[in-house]
Amino acid sequence: MQINGFSKLSKKDKINWLLKTYLYDVPEAAQILKQYWHNDVALQTLHDSFIENTISNFYLPYGIAPNFLIDGKTYALPMVTEESSVVAAASKSAKFWQDKGGFKTQVIDTIKTGHIHFIYEGETADLIIFFREHRAELLASVADLQMNMQKRGGGIKDINLIDRTDKLAHYYQIEFKFDTADAMGANFINTVLEEAAETLVKAAEVQLPAKLTILMRILSNYTPDCLVKVSVSCPVSDLAQDSLSGEAYAQKFIQAVAVAKVEPYRAVTHNKGIMNGIDAVVLATGNDFRAVEANAHAYAAKSGVYTSLSDAKIENGYFYFYLEIPLAVGTVGGITAIHPLVKFSLQLLQNPSATDLMRLMASAGLAQNFAALNSLITGGIQIGHMKMHLNNLLTFLKATEAERQKAQSYFSDKKVSFKDLKKLLQRD
Ligand code: MEV
Repeated sequence: MQINGFSKLSKKDKINWLLKTYLYDVPEAAQILKQYWHNDVALQTLHDSFIENTISNFYLPYGIAPNFLIDGKTYALPMVTEESSVVAAASKSAKFWQDKGGFKTQVIDTIKTGHIHFIYEGETADLIIFFREHRAELLASVADLQMNMQKRGGGIKDINLIDRTDKLAHYYQIEFKFDTADAMGANFINTVLEEAAETLVKAAEVQLPAKLTILMRILSNYTPDCLVKVSVSCPVSDLAQDSLSGEAYAQKFIQAVAVAKVEPYRAVTHNKGIMNGIDAVVLATGNDFRAVEANAHAYAAKSGVYTSLSDAKIENGYFYFYLEIPLAVGTVGGITAIHPLVKFSLQLLQNPSATDLMRLMASAGLAQNFAALNSLITGGIQIGHMKMHLNNLLTFLKATEAERQKAQSYFSDKKVSFKDLKKLLQRD
């Protein structure tokens, strides 16, 4: 079955079509969609316009992790996530590090890359001469496009011809290096690449003896040179916990990180924990979480083996825990100026620059990683996780207020399990 012109239908007709085609036996379907429509028509229209074929809004909780001391300034981080324990874990971690100097960050660089990928079936030597002679022309052809970006301190930083024929027959790139200032820069980069590619083709038709075929003109979401480092540190003795001395705790923590460094099965979960924190801030600030995820995991595999993004050590009686991650994010452009909650997040963060945001996100990632490892090497993650998840289970079981209170009090000193909860509320 194919429907044509779906995007041209009104919202009501789109829903009617869905109801009669797929949801004929779900009487409440239309109401489920409608209850998430915003009463404010203008606001709903704004949300409708973000993507194609909008039929409703999909809510995720928007939470706050306060007490994040980052480079001497205290922030309340906005976090959007569906995972119940993430905000609690970040908050706990932030508080722990707040009186120990907090998170210290360093932005290493902010360079992003884009490519014109093309095939040239002639001699490489001809292409090298051609590129040398037309480099200035390529740049001139995008001068107008980059004028605004240059005013904001960004623009094209370099362009080079790259010979990739060792990997794929006749395959070359023109590689552009960009600084996109406070923008994530995807639209700017892709516009520049498309314009430059046109110039390249025109010049090649006249100047090159063989045919040059453009394959793609696209930014790379891999930005190993748009990189931020974050660390926390404290005297080892400050890490003492119940039955563990500071030294024993630090050693166990370092070994847990060492496992993630050598074992990809663990590294993926370890890094997922880091991304729990980062993605939540990425979403709250209207950034592209797919780009951030792809980038982070590619960076984790940059040596050819997937490994931990964070590391830990003891030096001169101090425990150090640190993370290095590429983050290509923006505080202007995209939906930053039009989504009311994204605007709110940026205001809450005191209108950060893109590099500030890199620092904040990396700190959220390290905090989350610390919280996860802390739980894993002590009581396990399920105590905290299931405590937070208890609310979801209660909702699932349609618990009354009295039952909620009964369950909260019963599980206050016990591990939460669905089986025990059902027994407690006599739902078996
Ligand atoms: C759960 O979302 C994240 C953790 O699995 C991360 C980790 O294991 O380090 C707790």
